[in-house]
Amino acid sequence: MARHLITSALPYINGIKHLGNMVGSMLPADVYSRYLRQRGHDVLYICATDEHGTPAELAAKEQGLPVAEFCAQAHDAQKAVYDGFALAFDYFGRSSSPENREITQHFARKLNENGFIEERAIRQVYSPADGRFLPDRYVEGTCPHCGYDKARGDQCENCTRVLDPTDLINPRSAISGSTDLEVRETKHLFLLQSKLQHEVEQWVARHEADWPQLASSIARKWLNEGLHDRAITRDLDWGVPVPADTWPELAAEGKVFYVWFDAPIEYIGATKEWADQDPENRDWKAWWYDADETVRYTEFMAKDNVPFHTVMFPATELGVREPWKKVDYVKAFNWLTYYGGKFSTSQKRGVFTDQALDILPADYWRYFLIANAPESDDSSFTWEHFTATVNKDLADTLGNFVNRVLSFSKKRFGEEVPAGGEPGEAEARLGEEIARLLAEYEEQMEALQFRKAAAALRALWSAGNSYLEEKAPWLEIKTNKEGAALTLRTAMNLIHLYAVVSEPFIPATAKTMREAFSLADDTASWVSRDAAKALTSVPAGTPFTVPPVLFAKLTDEDLAAYKERFGGEEA
Ligand code: 2FM
Ligand code: ZN
Repeated sequence: MARHLITSALPYINGIKHLGNMVGSMLPADVYSRYLRQRGHDVLYICATDEHGTPAELAAKEQGLPVAEFCAQAHDAQKAVYDGFALAFDYFGRSSSPENREITQHFARKLNENGFIEERAIRQVYSPADGRFLPDRYVEGTCPHCGYDKARGDQCENCTRVLDPTDLINPRSAISGSTDLEVRETKHLFLLQSKLQHEVEQWVARHEADWPQLASSIARKWLNEGLHDRAITRDLDWGVPVPADTWPELAAEGKVFYVWFDAPIEYIGATKEWADQDPENRDWKAWWYDADETVRYTEFMAKDNVPFHTVMFPATELGVREPWKKVDYVKAFNWLTYYGGKFSTSQKRGVFTDQALDILPADYWRYFLIANAPESDDSSFTWEHFTATVNKDLADTLGNFVNRVLSFSKKRFGEEVPAGGEPGEAEARLGEEIARLLAEYEEQMEALQFRKAAAALRALWSAGNSYLEEKAPWLEIKTNKEGAALTLRTAMNLIHLYAVVSEPFIPATAKTMREAFSLADDTASWVSRDAAKALTSVPAGTPFTVPPVLFAKLTDEDLAAYKERFGGEEA
């Protein structure tokens, strides 16, 4: 048993996320956490809303709410959707928490003591029409690298390059649209990342061999371009204040830390929020401080977040000169596209997570998204693919198997699992096949290869169908009642096995399947890979019920309605 710390990139507070965000961070982290818990590991899965920065201020303004109030409401709204998706966080925190403020300020003081922070006067975009400086997303314009005309002052959504507002061509205010902008001088704190370049390089070199290529190649690219010193404060009303004990002048001017400075620190902050709820029993520092030997830390994120997690946050942690836990494994995802084009929160394109749950229960989405996760490349969401996958894998291969077996057995043998004779050659072959596929499933899950793990799971479901087709108990029963009973008992054991193994992917359905059997003691958290043992957890005589259809088949009319509502043209 090991201790696993798991975090998924913190979703920005500024609105409900789309399916692309879900598949690239929180959902796979949840699947992995659930799997590890099943295998008996001590798991802490932490996430939070990322509440600072211009996205929060702009969204609050749009809704005419004070930022604090907007964030409180938006946090609850996001949490409700994640509950709907059955994301089993150990804690879902808020980066605006007092805990994060305390740790962020501590990090800044330490970096300063260690000579990694410097005060510099810089030129910033100022808007006379708005009467304020315009940091980050408060400025929009044309990207100097790729020409995208809706680039934001912090990053170009199109080419993912990190920008400074003064880089933009034809800049305009995101608040008023004013193009009457000037550049004024103001003081800010700079994190001297250039001084940490060498150390970060050495740290990456020690770890990247274990990372997926997507993560290591992005980290390398950033290091090769050289780490630049970066302004880590902003002129905003909302954020972690610069501590007055260290920087009285900047604090008096109301400067706050830049959102990307405090957001990753919230991984630690949220762990402290979790511990503060039950301080007698929870020790946040045991997960984060001096924990290299005892904790394995895995981060989940989409590829645009990789530079911050492989280079910049580690640089911050290294510069603090205290033994804060750094990431061991970076699981990075490519993009999920919507008909080949971008899912976009700002342009409201694609399917949002709340809308998805309005249409169908979470398990449909969880399975589809993980089975098609953009792991080695971008992958495209289409309604055609979604409905076909649901019908084939979930409704036919799994759902139909479960209902067919249980209904038929109930009809012919009553409401208890029938005994039948001793397992024969077909059962032995099935056992071997199940053991092989379980091993494959475990191997892929351990390697965080989600598509391959889903394929192994699907193959496990198919193996049951093949067995049932081969034995055909509906025919067998005419000549060999004992034989048919054995077949059904074996198939019912498969159902229970599927319930256990499928739990990380489709937790609600797994629970229904498990609860179909009134086992005296159903604490099985995992399934033996021993072929002889794999199919023995449900003994003859166990009472069972037939659950309602597990997965509804989606019709051509459903497909047409989804496309009508969300649009389905190739981008
Ligand atoms: O890109 C994003 O959605 C950011 N909110 C992710 C932050 S991850 C972490 F470092 F906080
Ligand atoms: Zn660009």
